Amino acid sequence: MYELPRESRPLDAVLESFERTVLPLCKNEASPRFLGFGDTGDDPASLAGGLLALFTQQNLINQSFDSPSATFVEVAVLRWLRDLLGYANPPVADIRTVWDVGGMITHGGTTSNAAAMMLAREHKAPETMHGGVRNPGQFGVIVPRGIGHYSIKSALTWIGVGDQAIEVDTHAFRYDLARLERAVRRHRGQIMAVIAYAGDSRTQTVEHPRRVHDVVRAIDPRIWLHVDACWGLVAAFSDQLRHLIDGITEFDSVTVDPHKVMAVPYSLSALLVRQPSSLRTVSSYSDLIMQEDYAFGQVTPFIGTKGWLSLKLWMMLSHGRAGLAALAEDRVSKAHRFAALLDEHPRLLRLHEPDLAAVAFIYLPNDIRPEPSLPEQHIARINAVNQRVHKRMLAEGTWYLHQFSLPDDHARLCAGATLYPLRFMANNPRTTEAHMAEVIDYVTKLGGDLEGDIR
Ligand SMILES: Cc1ncc(COP(=O)(O)O)c(C=O)c1O
Repeated sequence: MYELPRESRPLDAVLESFERTVLPLCKNEASPRFLGFGDTGDDPASLAGGLLALFTQQNLINQSFDSPSATFVEVAVLRWLRDLLGYANPPVADIRTVWDVGGMITHGGTTSNAAAMMLAREHKAPETMHGGVRNPGQFGVIVPRGIGHYSIKSALTWIGVGDQAIEVDTHAFRYDLARLERAVRRHRGQIMAVIAYAGDSRTQTVEHPRRVHDVVRAIDPRIWLHVDACWGLVAAFSDQLRHLIDGITEFDSVTVDPHKVMAVPYSLSALLVRQPSSLRTVSSYSDLIMQEDYAFGQVTPFIGTKGWLSLKLWMMLSHGRAGLAALAEDRVSKAHRFAALLDEHPRLLRLHEPDLAAVAFIYLPNDIRPEPSLPEQHIARINAVNQRVHKRMLAEGTWYLHQFSLPDDHARLCAGATLYPLRFMANNPRTTEAHMAEVIDYVTKLGGDLEGDIR
């Protein structure tokens, strides 16, 4: 299997070998027991779109001969995403080039965030694209401490401005606004962007975009404001949830990740910008890309040939506003139900208020009461038990909850401590109340079995 076959093998034999040796070990994220992420990728319309995109083999780098109709599906999808978030769309008749659309489709949140950082860099120091970085000290980026996603820091290194993330303390998984204000004042002139998470990668707490905007803009109106809404896009689907992202349209750019939150198969992300023309600042020219009005290859940094990723989402959006609202509201109400089940349980402690679909919690050994200011050795023991629970869960493979490091930002056990919780995610429509109760029993049983080993 590891050596390139010398002779050609018939397709039947290859398929048989795949089915026997590879497929059984693939994860099944659409299982209602896979509760760690919920990138289910199983919306039927969107799967149909994925297949059609494979079979039609369009290339979104050019339009005229490469993707004569696909390009306009991509334009429609970008407009729909903008509309959902609340960004104004120009009238269709005014969309005469790719620079009028106000967004780009990419393969993932990491690429979208990297393109946003390029926009921020060009906004701060125009023509850095061509002249190179001259004064690296001016490209600082403010991020929330301990809850940011690595893609921003990676992007800063990739685009050559150096890892200049300025971390600001948080409270309850949102910026401490007084500290944010102090940081913006202290580093005035040296900041190119401030990042807000509409749904961070751990607890999916949604930042208050308007408050962050007001604090930053009052001090420096030139700073690029970027929202990472890879998870928070769902809040835009429902009138009941939209208040969570109030102010998002004041931000200069927004990353969304439909492959995380819309049951769209991998991979699909988009970067949307407040002012469509800003994309000109990161456009590149090549005589190998058609110099034509609708060639998306001109406006998408890092990506050349690009499949018809957007077709999956075009199909999925056939659920309409009502379907999207139901999807979002169902998840959030399921997350609240899971939180209520945790709260009834003496050995399990919830670590935040669920804004979206994620609920992070921790198992407490029998002799430890949940109270603020627990001593360090208790925290170490709690973490050790939870890490073992996660390891055993992975080894057994019956259930999956995710694990990561998390600051105890609500001071439930010890302010400032780093915890290793478990995380439930309510993205899967097949996850029922019975599954929730069963996984809670499973975790508490494992915790009880394993806590004795750790003193
Ligand atoms: C908040 C956030 N931003 C960006 C990313 C990166 O997205 P992708 O994995 O699609 O590149 C993630 C991935 O988990 C994320 O949680």
